[in-house]
Amino acid sequence: MKKKITVIGAGHVGEVTAFKIAEQELGDVVLLDIIEDMPIGKGLDMREGGPVGKYDSRIFGTNSYEDTANSDIVVITAGVPRKPGMSRDELVGTNFGIVKIVTENVVKHSPDALLLVVSNPLDAMVYTAFKVSGFPKNRVFGMAGILDTTRFRAFLSMETNVSVESIQALVLGGHGDTMVPFPRYTTISGIPISNFIPQDRLDAIIERTRKGGGEIVKYLKTGSAYYAPSLAVTEMVESIVKDKKKILPCAAYLEGEYGINGLYFGVPVKLGADGVEEIIEIDLTEEEKEAIKNSEAAVRSVIDLLKF
Ligand code: NAI
Ligand code: 2OP
Repeated sequence: MKKKITVIGAGHVGEVTAFKIAEQELGDVVLLDIIEDMPIGKGLDMREGGPVGKYDSRIFGTNSYEDTANSDIVVITAGVPRKPGMSRDELVGTNFGIVKIVTENVVKHSPDALLLVVSNPLDAMVYTAFKVSGFPKNRVFGMAGILDTTRFRAFLSMETNVSVESIQALVLGGHGDTMVPFPRYTTISGIPISNFIPQDRLDAIIERTRKGGGEIVKYLKTGSAYYAPSLAVTEMVESIVKDKKKILPCAAYLEGEYGINGLYFGVPVKLGADGVEEIIEIDLTEEEKEAIKNSEAAVRSVIDLLKF
């Protein structure tokens, strides 16, 4: 049976995500926003593209949560993006209220859904959705690590002139400048990255990855990235809908893994039909442990601002 996938927030990330999900025929799609009629227009436009785009997904937009009833997956992109000079964490005040109300409405109509949170500051917003929904931890998770990793892979591809498909990498931790890229687990078709790039260039690429979101904001001026983020969400939705059980870096709720308790944090997970089916732990060097601790502290400082 076809899955029903709802995307809340029909702004930049929401609309591209809805379109990619429909285009890849991962399910039928409902696109919801609070702006009157706007999602209806966007949904209709995407539906009308089906014959030439060669997809049969039923996609439509709405302002009513009743239309989202019994969704299998709900992607939450509602919220404000940052402007130049702002950190993701500065969005917490506004987006906490939005994600809270969105989650309450989603849960009322789709009590069995998986919740995939995108709104920033990501680790705090997925924590919000977890607390407000009361859903089990495997059914609430966030997208960030795939985006950070795809940026790292893209920069490595530009540097080495090698296909992006040959580059494997891993970026863990909170979705902010303290994120933790893992050069030790970065290879080109299994060959260590150090074979291809001198250390100083690798360091510069790691730094660019950490600031990758800000680099796009600087150019866009009125919002943040949405093509790479939407593709990252689509990869997660695909892994769930097709029960592929891909190992992907996602924000998952930790209860002792990596020495972290009661926090959403970017770690490798097995993502399948039941959502986060397993958290994969890896051994860390002392330096990596330090970087993870630093990132944990940054995420915790934002969580501490949340008022439930
Ligand atoms: P946008 O401003 O283009 O779209 C946001 C949409 O949310 C707007 O259409 C707005 O009307 C809607 N919205 C606001 N309150 C709502 C409510 N209560 N119910 C339903 N819809 C509501 O922003 P964009 O670029 O789509 O980004 C969305 C969020 O995703 C931002 O917080 C951004 O920082 C975050 N983001 C996170 C990424 C990640 O890696 N986790 C990557 C990219 C964006
Ligand atoms: C990014 O990294 C906006 O968090 C988003 O581009």
